[in-house]
Amino acid sequence: MSKSVQGFSKLTKDEKIEWVTTNFTQDPNAAKALLKSYWNSDSKLQRLHDEFIENTLTNHYLPFGVAPNFLINDQLYTIPMTIEESSVVAAASKAAKFWKDRGGFKTTILGTEKIGQVHFIFDGDSSKLWEFFTKIKPRLGEDASELTANMVKRGGGITNIELRDKTNDVQGYYQLHCTFETLDAMGANFINSCLEQFAKTLKNEAQHYTPFTEAERNIEVVMSILSNYVPNCLVRAEVSCPVSELKSSAVSPEEFAQKMVRAVQIAQAEPHRAVTHNKGIMNGIDAVVLATGNDFRAVEAGIHAYASKDGKYTSLTHARIENGQFYFWMEIPLALGTVGGLTSLHPLVKVALEILGKPSAPELMQIVAVAGLAQNFAALRSLVTTGIQEGHMKMHLLNILNQLGATEVEKKELTNYFKKNTVTHSSVVAAFENLRNN
Ligand code: MEV
Repeated sequence: MSKSVQGFSKLTKDEKIEWVTTNFTQDPNAAKALLKSYWNSDSKLQRLHDEFIENTLTNHYLPFGVAPNFLINDQLYTIPMTIEESSVVAAASKAAKFWKDRGGFKTTILGTEKIGQVHFIFDGDSSKLWEFFTKIKPRLGEDASELTANMVKRGGGITNIELRDKTNDVQGYYQLHCTFETLDAMGANFINSCLEQFAKTLKNEAQHYTPFTEAERNIEVVMSILSNYVPNCLVRAEVSCPVSELKSSAVSPEEFAQKMVRAVQIAQAEPHRAVTHNKGIMNGIDAVVLATGNDFRAVEAGIHAYASKDGKYTSLTHARIENGQFYFWMEIPLALGTVGGLTSLHPLVKVALEILGKPSAPELMQIVAVAGLAQNFAALRSLVTTGIQEGHMKMHLLNILNQLGATEVEKKELTNYFKKNTVTHSSVVAAFENLRNN
């Protein structure tokens, strides 16, 4: 067999597995058996998963858990989370319980605007292009009306189309900067279809626009694509309570509040810390985004761009103490959907949305933002008091023991032992070997 292949996608799943395991694994039979052991016994369900992507060999499991007790705008939620990092769900649950006893989380939708752009090159007199755009602007919407009819019926659609001159950045570069309301859909397909139609109309109309010269008629469309930077699709999540209620076993409430504020100030000032600080926020956000079948790469890209919107990468969260009250909040852009895409295909996603009470997209934005804020609160609380490793390593202990192949009896014994001893990778290995040898 060869390590390069032609027509791989046309092979059957078994043939693909055969080719991959024979070429790339030391024990092809074992690898084959392992890959197949992750197939779902329900062949219909397996086929559904096979067809999500090309060249599927098997399924890749991640834990699907829930963090209960999230009080958001006076309503209780149990939040589904899909994530492999051991401490995330526990931290979310702890933060949820903490804030439930202090009034819960409050959230506000600040906007739901989605964005897409047609990037094109126009070689000519820019004033003529502006006149041309004014003339064809209604036509752009009309030509897309078949695509937008359903969305318009439900109250959404194209909200604006602007011509933008970007010739200072790239020679001849202009764009149609378009905004959309996509309601409960994330809207990627809708937006991209509209943009491709705008591009067609733009090119066609230019070809018949008599004030243009021959060169000007030849508009070159470079690409038409939605933007994952959606600074006006924005949600705010916040918590607050009297400083005196910020009880923590390690330090006084006043010291705790001040340390929290300082930790946020450091993340605001220092990009190295800001990235890790925001990564902690994304632990909560990605887990809910993934569980609810949304595009976590889009969310990640958009949120990190937002974190650097003022020219420097900074903290997404803010904290202050005022008149004895502690305030902790965050505003983030989130383009999410609760209809269409994976949300109507993946059975687990459907259950996740059901657990959340079948939220609208704006409701889901609020839930996801709260998961992010809660996660940051939990991380900072550990960091400024006991340190992160205590909790992390306790959760990690089971992972290490599983890797070492500990039996249930050994796990029980070692979990007891590490109640009084510090968990490090080497201390767990040593204690495990000690137990086995005795
Ligand atoms: C680990 O996944 C996340 C943290 O590093 C976040 C933080 O430092 O704020 C604990």
